[in-house]
Amino acid sequence: MLAIEVVPLTAGTAKLAEREEPVLSEGSVLVETLAIGVCGTDREIVAGNYGRPPPGEANLVLGHESLGRVIEAPAGSSVAAGDLVVAIVRRPDPVPCANCAAGEWDMCRNGRYTECGIKERHGFCRERFRIEPEFVVKLAPHLKKTGVLLEPASILAKAWEHIDYIGRRARWLPKVALVTGAGPVGLLAALMAKQRGLDVIVFDRVESGLKPELVRRLGGKYATGDVEELGTTADVIVECTGYGPLVFKCMRQTPPGGIVCLTGISTAGRKLEIDPGLINRDVVLENDVIFGSVNANRRHYEAAAKSLAAADPAWLERIISRRLPLSAWRDALQPMPDAVKTVIDFTQDRLPNDS
Ligand code: BGC
Repeated sequence: MLAIEVVPLTAGTAKLAEREEPVLSEGSVLVETLAIGVCGTDREIVAGNYGRPPPGEANLVLGHESLGRVIEAPAGSSVAAGDLVVAIVRRPDPVPCANCAAGEWDMCRNGRYTECGIKERHGFCRERFRIEPEFVVKLAPHLKKTGVLLEPASILAKAWEHIDYIGRRARWLPKVALVTGAGPVGLLAALMAKQRGLDVIVFDRVESGLKPELVRRLGGKYATGDVEELGTTADVIVECTGYGPLVFKCMRQTPPGGIVCLTGISTAGRKLEIDPGLINRDVVLENDVIFGSVNANRRHYEAAAKSLAAADPAWLERIISRRLPLSAWRDALQPMPDAVKTVIDFTQDRLPNDS
């Protein structure tokens, strides 16, 4: 079968390769891949900046945003042949730490977790994969076209769950949410803010096209320019760009008791003059909370599945602005300024060999 593989931490090694069929020891549920989403993490791995192969191997199969159909599953498990499923990305560490032991692997304390397609476990960008039943999530059949958004949505379901927990430290009556970045992660953050009844402003540097249109269709406001000149204060900011200078501006943008959730992973190396004393003063005197959020556990995948099921299917479909066949994998891995989400569609024609 065909798979996209890479030698982690070595740029220029991504290739479409023939691989052995998955073996039973990888899991008792056999899944046929329908679609794989491409995100910034995949592009970082391909650029040689991130990722680790499974122990004793040189290559890593890419792909952590999956959508598949069950081919076979053991009798009595939570899924059966024909079910539409998404695979959970992270596995608990082997110790396990207190969080991993409780199924909260997204909060792993010792960093020894593994991640499919990212860290020490093969991913799902192959025609078929096997997985343990406890790490598949079943989706409603009508999410056949958009279910590949479940993994990124799970990241936001976790972020919003934690925002809600933090908010409950006092009376919490949020009205406005600001989301920075109108990529797939930002749009899904905005969807969940709307589903919570909040007014939403989405901030991005792109001035026209699909991004502002999707935000307006969601019932949100779209803003560009300087985030400090928005003229509205948001009770919650969900930062989805990872762009360092913007992250610092966001930290200074909330009213007293505001919450800033950072979900974007920055690239290091950008120097910025900041006044740490001023930030500390603001945060302390206003009881602000700035926190980071990564990954998701099963509870978050299930919450995200409900969110996607409740969203307008036509709106969700437009987030996936580029669907390419496996044969166009090189293009899929290139960022396109106008594209929102790129998906490799395994149901379209594919070439037998790397081109
Ligand atoms: C994935 C997460 C993962 C994180 C760090 C993100 O792209 O969506 O599941 O935990 O990268 O590796």
